[in-house]
Amino acid sequence: MKPEELIAEAREARKLSYSPYSHFAVGAALLCKDGQVFKGANIENGAYPLCMCAERNALYNAYMHGKKTEDFVAMALCADTDEPCSPCGACRQVLSELFPSTAPIYMSNLKGDVKETNIKELLPYAFVLKD
Ligand code: THU
Repeated sequence: MKPEELIAEAREARKLSYSPYSHFAVGAALLCKDGQVFKGANIENGAYPLCMCAERNALYNAYMHGKKTEDFVAMALCADTDEPCSPCGACRQVLSELFPSTAPIYMSNLKGDVKETNIKELLPYAFVLKD
């Protein structure tokens, strides 16, 4: 699957966002080695800290279908931002544990701007719970 196609999936996922509080809809799409794509959108709650980001929903969606870190090829995210939407700190921490460190992450926006990065770049010196 081409990066543009994965980005289009993230844009589609964004339409499933439940974001009545922030009015900031985000979509994410996670590509696996077997070609499957798992989507996520941000789902908010009136108890604000319970809001869940698109990227984590996509990752957890994939995990709940039996996928694991070694199955992941790339992730795309999309929001209506001036610059390509960048993952929040909480998502970076989760990605640093569950997503391959140098696999492409395509940050994008509705205007069609795209920036490619990876979690090693986004969260250097990540916390790891290991001896
Ligand atoms: N949000 C995401 O879904 N992903 C990010 O990386 C940044 C923030 C969501 C959380 C909340 O529902 C809304 O965007 C505003 O912060």
